[in-house]
Amino acid sequence: MAVENFDEKINILEKKVKEAVSRALDLVRLDEIRVKYLGRKGELNDLIKELPGIPEELKAHNGRRLNSVRNDLENLINKKSVELKDKFVEEKLKKEGIDVTMPGRSVSLGHLHPLTKVERRIEDIFQSMGFSVVFGSEIESEYYNFDALNISKDHPAREMQDTFWIKNPKSEIQNPKQHLLLRTHTSPMQARYMEKNNPPLRIIVPGRVYRHEATDASHEIQFHQIEGLMVGEDISLANLKAIFEEFFKRFFNKKKVEIRFRPGYFPFVEPGIEVDIKLETGSKWLEVAGAGMVHPKVFKAAGYIPGKQQGFAFGVGLDRLSMIYYGISDIRLFYSSDFRFLKQF
Ligand code: DAH
Repeated sequence: MAVENFDEKINILEKKVKEAVSRALDLVRLDEIRVKYLGRKGELNDLIKELPGIPEELKAHNGRRLNSVRNDLENLINKKSVELKDKFVEEKLKKEGIDVTMPGRSVSLGHLHPLTKVERRIEDIFQSMGFSVVFGSEIESEYYNFDALNISKDHPAREMQDTFWIKNPKSEIQNPKQHLLLRTHTSPMQARYMEKNNPPLRIIVPGRVYRHEATDASHEIQFHQIEGLMVGEDISLANLKAIFEEFFKRFFNKKKVEIRFRPGYFPFVEPGIEVDIKLETGSKWLEVAGAGMVHPKVFKAAGYIPGKQQGFAFGVGLDRLSMIYYGISDIRLFYSSDFRFLKQF
């Protein structure tokens, strides 16, 4: 075989591969080229197999030549492969119309429940007026829920339809301090707090309460109250009125809120009152709280000497205030876990 021929063969192969690579439009084609020319059974290997047949003195030269051509072509194919991949991604992005400058999809974050929001606002307002926020337990004893608050044994509030009693394994417990129930109001904290703290004192007690009743748009078996208690020397209903005026004004963001006290009955206060507010002149009165002057028997049960101090107490419905504030007509929405409702706050 003529030597020039062999050199020429290498040149031709090199040229063919270079041309083919430059024309390749995709990675599949590029791989076909790699296999066809540089693969195990490819044309370059065919040439290597011809090496033993050429004159001895030219073997080394042509052997090196074949090696360096193989290296060059492999590099060429690798470079082209990177180019094609980049082009592929670029075209794909173009075709699918991804706009990398577009803002990302926002993740929806959770937020506080409307009742929690309202509760925190109420706490802030009372704290700014010198009240401390204290919490009681939702599982309460008969004694603190009723006896210590002068609610007699035959008071209708104790009856089965109002109170969720907790079954005690040692049945028929007679001691009212051990007889457990779900608190029906936040008032028991008045007694518990006064047992441990001396006047003067100002507290509010926000929390969940339970009543065994049929539910409707304004009644739930669970709801929330905020108890208030202020005890000291010369505390009167005038103080309560001033505090309520300030509180409701700030809570409803009004310049003025009209307040009306009507007589009411609650065993733990004397006199007892019902508190109404009017948010706009001409609108109707809304009942928002029960209140009164702490009953001497409640002071006595807490270990205070009746007559040595006075105080007022009040209980407001957190759900009710939230309904008025947000204009919600059904209390059950607060407990429905319905995102369509909750997302609005
Ligand atoms: N505990 C009463 C209830 O659940 C509300 C209440 C009324 C609380 C008068 C008071 C009060 O502190 O003085 O209906």
